[in-house]
Amino acid sequence: MSAERQKAHAAAAALEYVEHGMTLGLGSGSTAEIFLRLLGERVKEGLDVKGVPTSQRTAEVAHEAGVPLIEVDHVDQIAVTVDGADEVDGRFQLIKGGGACLLREKIIANASDLMVVMVDESKLVDTLGRFPLPVEVDRFGFSITARQVYEALKRAGVKSPDVQLRRKGDGLDPLITDGGHYILDCACGAIPDARLADQHLKAIPGLVEHGLFIGLARVVIVGEDMEARVMEL
Ligand code: A5P
Repeated sequence: MSAERQKAHAAAAALEYVEHGMTLGLGSGSTAEIFLRLLGERVKEGLDVKGVPTSQRTAEVAHEAGVPLIEVDHVDQIAVTVDGADEVDGRFQLIKGGGACLLREKIIANASDLMVVMVDESKLVDTLGRFPLPVEVDRFGFSITARQVYEALKRAGVKSPDVQLRRKGDGLDPLITDGGHYILDCACGAIPDARLADQHLKAIPGLVEHGLFIGLARVVIVGEDMEARVMEL
């Protein structure tokens, strides 16, 4: 069975967490886009919700799907954020940022009463780190920051981190995030202690945010071939 089918099952199950009148954080990535299109169908049937998008792309898809948006700085409370992830471990710790949206995703998830994560089965891991950890950095002095990211990951117990500047599809120009920053992709193999890595990374001046989401997800929905499995902390 395809990952697409599993993502669709997860996205459909995530709709159960949406209630009339809610302000929602709208995640980014292919699973979040499936969710948005399903949400748009509910809106057409009369569901009253507003969304705070976590990327320009998500704002565009929400617009196409007919999901009303609200300016992030006009929001008092976000009830639920629904988002995808690149990896999820057994403690609901996540790696996010494969789509380069991790900064806005983390701001919105952290400001929400509840974060619901939708994944296909391939995203489940025992130890985070098989997926390269995205780290968003200021463009100024990024090579200095990259060296410090390498050192921080080593101190956190990663054996041989490989830190690479993410480039656009053409392979030439660096990718620029919605916030105007660079992304460093850090191949780690395994991150033995995600909390320790979080602490060491946060101390680096040029680092804007990193893709370890710790203590944020309370619900993980795993799309399977025939249905979705809902896990709550
Ligand atoms: C965006 O920056 C990411 O955090 C996505 O949420 C993540 O890459 C999952 O994307 P898919 O749903 O496309 O797998």
